[in-house]
Amino acid sequence: MLYPKNSIVQKTLVVSLLLFSASAFSNELAQREQAAKQVSQQFLKQLGGHLKKEMKANGPVAAIKVCKDVAPKIANQLSLENGWRVTRVSTKPRNALLGSPDKWEREALLAFESRAKKGEKYADMAKAEVVEEAGKSYFRYMKPLALKPICLTCHGSEQQIPEPVKAALDESYPYDQARGYSVGELRGAISIKQPLDVSLRKTF
Ligand code: HEC
Repeated sequence: MLYPKNSIVQKTLVVSLLLFSASAFSNELAQREQAAKQVSQQFLKQLGGHLKKEMKANGPVAAIKVCKDVAPKIANQLSLENGWRVTRVSTKPRNALLGSPDKWEREALLAFESRAKKGEKYADMAKAEVVEEAGKSYFRYMKPLALKPICLTCHGSEQQIPEPVKAALDESYPYDQARGYSVGELRGAISIKQPLDVSLRKTF
C-alpha cells in the first residue's frame, strides 16, 4: 500500500473512486433510458405507419393482421437488434401470451393511471428503473400508450367496432379483454427490459 492505512489521502481516494463509479453508473442509466425512449418511438412509428396505411388501403378487417403479425414482428426485431425484451403489455390484453404484464409492469400501468387521474398527460409519462430479478440486474422502461380515435375501430365499445371486425376479432381472440376503451384512456404500454450485462449498441 502506497499510503498509510486510513490516511486522509487514502480515504479521499476511496471516496473519489466511489463518486466516480456512481456518476459513471448514472451516466450509463441516462444512456439506457435515452436508448429505450428511442426504440419505443421507433416501434410506435413503424407500427403506426403500417396500421394507418393498411386501414386506409384495405380497411380495418385487413388491418387486424398488422396488429396480429406485424406488431410482434417489429417487437421481435427490436428485441434481437438490441439484446433486450421489447413488448407491448396491458392490464386487459387481447393476446394474453404476449400482452400480459408481469408484476413490475402491472404496477407501472396502475401508477400511470393514477397519475393521469391527478392531471398528468400520458404523453409526458414514462417509468425507468433498475431492478434485481432472480439474481440479475435489469434496466426496465415503460412508455404508456393512450387510446386515440383510430384505435376505437378495434378497441372501442361494441357499437364502435364494426360487425366484420368484431367477427374477425372473435375468431382470433376468443378471450379478448381489449374492448370498451374510450379515447384518452390507457390502453397499455411499450415495455423494455435491458439486461445490465448486455452493453448498449454503439449507434445510440
Ligand atoms: C385493426 C385493428 C386494431 C387497431 C386499429 C388497433 N389495434 Fe391494438 N390490437 C389489435 C390486435 C388484433 C391486437 C392483438 C395483437 C397480438 O395478437 O399480439 C392488439 C393489441 C394491442 C396491444 C397489445 C396488448 C394486447 O392487448 O394484447 C396494445 C398495447 C394495443 N393493441 C394498442 C393499440 C393502440 C394504442 C391503438 C391505436 C393507436 C390500437 N391498438 C389500434 C388490433 C387493433
